[in-house]
Amino acid sequence: MSRGKFITLEGIDGAGKSTHLSFIAEHLRALDKAVLTTREPGGTPLGEMLRDMVLSQSMHVETETLIMFASRREHIDKVIVPALEKGIWVISDRFTDATFAYQGGGRGIANERLKLLEDWVQNGLQPDLTFLFDVSSELSHQRLAFNQSLDRFEQEKQDFFKRVRDSYLDRAHAFQHRMRVIDASRGIAEIQTELGSLLDTLAQ
Ligand code: TMP
Repeated sequence: MSRGKFITLEGIDGAGKSTHLSFIAEHLRALDKAVLTTREPGGTPLGEMLRDMVLSQSMHVETETLIMFASRREHIDKVIVPALEKGIWVISDRFTDATFAYQGGGRGIANERLKLLEDWVQNGLQPDLTFLFDVSSELSHQRLAFNQSLDRFEQEKQDFFKRVRDSYLDRAHAFQHRMRVIDASRGIAEIQTELGSLLDTLAQ
């Protein structure tokens, strides 16, 4: 049995990535793949507790960063690697690119420090494919304005999202072998046609 593939979904808040998660899972199931969907921060019982804390409590940016990696350590150990080893395809709504974008680009933690934590926690694990759902910070801001209960990140100013987006785009440029930038300002049908053909290629 071959190892499953690891797919991650990224983008600034309001990019609409969660809408595409179920499409991606269904598309892969139709190609006869066993699929597990999960998310970060979260994905395990402990990770979900850490998620509640990090999305609601104000804290030092280094505490925030360490919680993201603590949640990730559990997630990798209890969910991601066991599933991949069983041949299951894992789709995670966010992974480490989010830490480089939000805690790095958004909050100003140096990349080298994040890289140290990444090496420590991931032991070489990287996604096989990452979809970066890209929208402008203006569009993200407009979309979030419809939401009544915004979490601690979603309440950040447009400036913050601009830095997060720039940092995501820098990573997409640096890791072209696994990251695909998806223009998420388009209609859903057009986006899903593009996703479908990228997934078909990965599944071959
Ligand atoms: P979500 O709304 O996409 O589920 O993500 C929750 C928030 O957590 C989102 O605003 C981005 C943030 N986040 C980080 O700041 N760093 C991380 O490493 C991850 C995984 C998420």
